[in-house]
Amino acid sequence: KRHLISAADLTRDDAVLILDTAEEMARVADRPIKKLPTLRGRTVVNLFFEDSTRTRISFEAAAKRLSADVINFSAKGSSVSKGESLKDTALTLEAMGADAVVIRHGDSGAPHRLATSGWIGGSVVNAGDGTHEHPTQALLDAFTMRRHLTDGAGQDLSGRHITIVGDILHSRVARSNVHLLTTLGAEVTLVAPPTLVPIGVERWPCEVSYDLDAVLTKSDAVMMLRVQRERMNAAFFPTEREYARRYGLDGDRMARMPDHAIVMHPGPMNRGMEITAEVADSPRCTAVEQVANGVSIRMAVLYLLLGGNEPAVTTTAPTGT
Ligand code: CP
Repeated sequence: KRHLISAADLTRDDAVLILDTAEEMARVADRPIKKLPTLRGRTVVNLFFEDSTRTRISFEAAAKRLSADVINFSAKGSSVSKGESLKDTALTLEAMGADAVVIRHGDSGAPHRLATSGWIGGSVVNAGDGTHEHPTQALLDAFTMRRHLTDGAGQDLSGRHITIVGDILHSRVARSNVHLLTTLGAEVTLVAPPTLVPIGVERWPCEVSYDLDAVLTKSDAVMMLRVQRERMNAAFFPTEREYARRYGLDGDRMARMPDHAIVMHPGPMNRGMEITAEVADSPRCTAVEQVANGVSIRMAVLYLLLGGNEPAVTTTAPTGT
């Protein structure tokens, strides 16, 4: 495959290959020199039209650990604020020789447009588009679940029960996770207030519940989502107290989860709304681990898209050793 636009495009074998490659990449982080020569001479452009902390920084770290040159482009402070179009921005990047463009955009479909337009010749990786998809987030989430809930390499998530809670309506993370987790054999339940459930959810390959307490006790992983106020009309804001009471995860609720079950959050968190500080800071919460795993997943994705003909990580000595 040349691009990564949607988790829905991945087969089970594609996904397991990415997860297994990410396990190899994770070993690089344990080495004294955390770098591989695999993408030396290649250029990766991070093209961010929306704010990001974790995704932008981890794609940059991933590309640098593979020895690629990295150009970071943020729409804020660029000629986009003068009205320059996605097409002209893309043509400018193409002129600079981008081998891969990692794009985050507020419009659902922008990465697909970039990949199919002919404006650029390199690979396109979707780093989150509108309310559509965030495939590398789903991959790092699956990687984290696989590490906690299975024996690891080569495995999928068959038979695991995953609950995703919160603002499903606006969540590209939820969409990508439903696609990927079900492809990997997991059973997914969405829990949300009725106003934050998307129209047409009955066609998604998952269950929908409005009762968090009923679902918690049979979950292997509970993923809490941020309420995305920036994508909501102010009139539809749920009150913080009422939302937390019905759909937030606090210490009492976490205690009802099975002992082996983990709490996940893609970040950024609204502490006190969807998750209490007690839960966010507990050893059962993998939010920080998910960020570290994101670097390994993004290394794997860039390696598989750009460096497939190079030697595998396990047979490549790190630079300088
Ligand atoms: N999870 C996630 O996409 O975080 P950022 O918006 O900080 O990249």
